[in-house]
This record gives sequence, structure tokens and C-alpha cells, in this order.
Amino acid sequence: MMLETLARLPLAHLPTPLEPLTRLRAALQAEDPTRSVPLLLVKRDDQTGLASGGNKTRKLEYLLAQALAEKADTVLTVGAPQSNHCRQTAAAAARAGLRCVLVLGGSAPRLEGGNLLLDRLLGAEIVWANDRDRLALLAETAQAQALAGHRPYVITYGGSSPVGAAGYATAFQELLDQAKVDGWAIDHVVVASSSGGTQAGMAVGAWAAGFQGQLHGISIDRSASEFQAALADLAAQTASLLGIPHRFQARDFIVHDAYLGGGYGVLGDAEREAIRLLAASEGLLADPVYTGRALAGLLDMIRLGRFGTEETVVFWHTGGLPALFAYAEQLA
Ligand SMILES: Cc1ncc(COP(=O)(O)O)c(C=O)c1O
Repeated sequence: MMLETLARLPLAHLPTPLEPLTRLRAALQAEDPTRSVPLLLVKRDDQTGLASGGNKTRKLEYLLAQALAEKADTVLTVGAPQSNHCRQTAAAAARAGLRCVLVLGGSAPRLEGGNLLLDRLLGAEIVWANDRDRLALLAETAQAQALAGHRPYVITYGGSSPVGAAGYATAFQELLDQAKVDGWAIDHVVVASSSGGTQAGMAVGAWAAGFQGQLHGISIDRSASEFQAALADLAAQTASLLGIPHRFQARDFIVHDAYLGGGYGVLGDAEREAIRLLAASEGLLADPVYTGRALAGLLDMIRLGRFGTEETVVFWHTGGLPALFAYAEQLA
């Protein structure tokens, strides 16, 4: 991989821990003693260290390095009001000494809690899209910043450009190195997948390392067929950036779209149960939008007997903690 040639701004606490989920496994076994429950591990990217962590920090290491190389003074990005990506971008910009402007969907809520509260504390300027198209408004806002004499650097949804996804190509190698030291042979990796940079980057890292297991994306908000094509496209561009000679195809990607529930950001019974079970059995916190849904998917697959007792499954925790506080009423 040509990752060494890609500029990187150290922002994350790496490597993130890889830990067994012994009590969660026991709880799932106790529900049904005849069930085959795999060995469960968690990769703690909720602990990447940037203003409460999350998966975007790894992407931002490469994205912000590029912003600095281009002599930008203002970073702009886009997301939902409770976007973890926007919060981590605001934190990364602060660490790099850059201004940050966030284009957020909808309108200002009565109470700015969760990630939104952190965006404000981290010094980001917020532009509410109301009923405007967010990407069009992002481009317009960047133009306005340039006209005002700033040098904007624009980051797309979720930081899921080839440069951002490169962060997860390295992350996958990090996982395999840890597993080797600890003597774990990984059969499956399960991760929440939405804008796709995490899963696409991991696929590139997995291919480069010759990983023989399966990488499962639990789709948060898209149908599998549409998403697989987008993942293949992003992985192909990321591989090309890294000088990796592989043509990714849609069928290379495992995407589960059975867990879309009530739609993006809608907390349902499955997410609620997953969040509570992980918290009570392991003392770990999943979030209402992404990791709660992905964990609910993993629990369902385990309960359906999808994995063998001899297999090892990694749940890649991608963070999202601050959003929990924005869902207090629905979680109580
Ligand atoms: C906590 C969390 N997990 C997973 C994801 C999905 O990652 P990606 O957008 O790279 O698919 C996000 C993205 O917003 C997130 O905030």
C-alpha cells in the first residue's frame, strides 16, 4: 500500500483496543443453551480519542493533512443535526488550528444537545439547511467563504472520499496485527455502514492483507443493491489512490439491509434492546443511530444461528456516544 506517501495528521489514539465481549457472549448463550454463539470481540474505535471518539477520526487524519497541505484555513462539511462526523470534524479543525463551518440538515432545535452541543463548544459555525439540498448549500457556503477571503477545504458526507476511506484501509491492517499478537483468527467483521467510507476502506485493507474472512456492513439507511455499487466505486477509487491493483465489484461487498427499521435516526425496539444489552452486560455504550442498529443486526444474526461456535466475530464499534444524550426521552 502507498499509505506511507499519503500525508497524515496524527489525531487518533491508536491502536484502539481489541477486547473480548465475554459477558455478552454468555448472555446470548444463556438465552438458549443450544444456540451456537461465536467468540465475540469488539474493536474500540469509540475510543479514537477525538472529542469522545468515533470512526471519523481515522478518516480526518488524512483529510485534514490534505487541508493543511492545500493551505486551507476553513474546513466545511455536512451532516444530520446529530452527526458524529460533523462533531469530530469540528474537533479536528480545532486541533489543527482551522475554522470549521458545518452545514446541518433541518432547522435549529429548541435545545442544542448531544453532538450539536459539542459542535458549538468546539467552535464550529453552523449553517442550517432547512428545506434546502444540503450538498448544494455546502458548495454555496464554501463559495461564500472563499469570497469572504477564506481558503475553504470541503469534506463530503461522512468524510467518505477516497482520502478519508484510506484511514480504514490502515485500520484493517491494525486489527489483523492485533489479532495475530493475541492469537485470534478472525472469521467475520461486522460494522455499521452508512456513507460507506468505513466499509469501503476496510475492504481495501482486507484485500491488501489477504484477509480470508467476511466483512459485513450493516446498512443504516440504504438498500443493499444500491449501496453495494456505491461501495465498489469508493473502494476502487481508494485502491487506486493507494496503488492497489484490484478492481472491486458490487458483489464483493456483504451488505445487510434487513435492519433499516423505521429509517435513518429512528430508534426502534431492536436498537433499544441492543444498546441496553451491551451496556448492562459489558459496560459499553452503543449509539441510537449507528452502532445500536449494527449491534441489533449482529445480535439477530447470532440468534438466527448464522455463526459457528468455533468462529470469531469482531464487532467494530464506530462510536457515536454523544447522540445518546439527544435521545434521552426515547431511551428512558
Ligand atoms: C457512530 C457511527 N458509526 C458508523 C458510521 C458509518 O460510517 P460510514 O459513514 O463511513 O459508513 C457513522 C457515520 O456517520 C457513525 O457516526
